[in-house]
Amino acid sequence: MKAKEGVLEFLNNILTAELTAAHQYIANAAMCGNWGYDRLHHTIQERALEEVTHAGGIVEHILYLEGKPDMQRLGTVNVGQTVLDQFKSDLKLEMADLQLLREAIGHCDKVGDYTTRHKLEEMSVDTDEHIDWLETQMETIRQVGLENYLSEQIKKDG
Ligand SMILES: [Fe+2]
Ligand SMILES: [Fe+2]
Repeated sequence: MKAKEGVLEFLNNILTAELTAAHQYIANAAMCGNWGYDRLHHTIQERALEEVTHAGGIVEHILYLEGKPDMQRLGTVNVGQTVLDQFKSDLKLEMADLQLLREAIGHCDKVGDYTTRHKLEEMSVDTDEHIDWLETQMETIRQVGLENYLSEQIKKDG
């Protein structure tokens, strides 16, 4: 199926955003592991995999639309030097991702590409959840204090 005007450009921009997110989460997860925060390490590693899945879905959809996925481009990867810095930069990244998805959904609506719109809507639900999780962590830190929060992250689940 041939893509409608402008859709492939949006999809490649989203692909870049998803690859960037995956890179950032991989780095942040590894750092949390290195600091001994096993719970955060596990959660953020899962998040990285989710972003890889998003990227893979976009690649498949670009191919379906007979386009060429751009695997070479990467945005700025912000690796936080503390857990709180990581949450802040992840939140910024997810917000930008959501903004881009919304713009793309609006464009798909305008050109009548409902298949792509549906896919992007599903991704924006995940992105909303990622934002919600980050906001919850930051609120918990505000309420219980950073030390208490971090000491809970050292424990292994189960
Ligand atoms: Fe994503
Ligand atoms: Fe995300």
